[in-house]
Amino acid sequence: MRIGVLTSGGDCPGLNAVIRSVVHRGVVDHGDEIIGFEDGWRGLLEGVHRPLTLDSVSGILAQGGTILGSSRVQPSHLRDGVERAKQHCADLGIDAVIPIGGEGTLKAAKLMSDAGLPVVGVPKTIDNDIACTDVTFGFDTAVSVATEALDRLKTTAESHQRVMVVEVMGRHTGWIALNAGMAAGAHAIIVPERPFHIDKLTEVVRERFDRQKKFAIVVCAEGAKPEPGTMPWEEGTKDMYGHERFTGIATQLSRELEHRLGKEARPVILGHTQRGGTPTAYDRVLATRFGWHAVEAAHKGAFGHITALQGTEIKLVPLGEAVAELKTVPAERYKEAETVI
Ligand code: F6P
Repeated sequence: MRIGVLTSGGDCPGLNAVIRSVVHRGVVDHGDEIIGFEDGWRGLLEGVHRPLTLDSVSGILAQGGTILGSSRVQPSHLRDGVERAKQHCADLGIDAVIPIGGEGTLKAAKLMSDAGLPVVGVPKTIDNDIACTDVTFGFDTAVSVATEALDRLKTTAESHQRVMVVEVMGRHTGWIALNAGMAAGAHAIIVPERPFHIDKLTEVVRERFDRQKKFAIVVCAEGAKPEPGTMPWEEGTKDMYGHERFTGIATQLSRELEHRLGKEARPVILGHTQRGGTPTAYDRVLATRFGWHAVEAAHKGAFGHITALQGTEIKLVPLGEAVAELKTVPAERYKEAETVI
């Protein structure tokens, strides 16, 4: 078989582990030829590609980023490019395309699959918000990075009797905030699924200082918002891909908490640090398993599916189910976190 691979959307630790796994399983076990499309869908639409051999993936298992490069593409550009993508695949003799990406990439994969391209998707995102898979690789790394940062912030916060408002990634879902917050013993966790009330949050922090505690850590997902009309709040605009441009919850919230509590409050934005660098062992293993199973799916002709972790097994899930809705933090998971903080 000739298999094309691409990585699209925001990068994420573990992408290279998938690429390596696809090449190993394909070349060694099936005698496949693997082609890498550069910079995500753009490479497929514009026919920019290179061969991926065992040599070209040697030593990349633990590397962050993606050796193929990534990009975001406007949905209209993708819709207009479907026939071009099909033509490039036909010209190259591609029998299967494995796009590795998050929500946007998998929606594009569905578009391509519906148009007749033989696609097997691999889900990735540090946000962990893809439905049908228990976990996406990259998430464990992001939570580990955020947890380490929170642990470090605690000691400096205590020395200065400050409130630290720490912003982590999570556009629509609060999985990183919830897990890193629990792991580090944060005193409040704010997620997009549940608009917060500033009065309640202020009381949680005030009560902590009243108990002679010297600091407080508030973790918030970048996409979280206050209940409308409860505090001054600047709304964001949209970028060219239709994504909301955030206005900085940590900055706005720390300003408000400082004003209400009379305590120093500092915003800390972890940003892309959470996405960079080497993947954890867990993410390397999950990414490797996804790559292995994606090649198997291609050989079985199971197109129009993604690989998904369910329990301890890797299953194939129809693309339509995977992109139907995002996997959000359920109320009961949030309740567990509330009890322990
Ligand atoms: O979707 C993954 C993600 O890391 C989000 O958590 C974050 O909002 C977004 O990507 C950032 O994207 P960019 O790298 O384009 O700024």
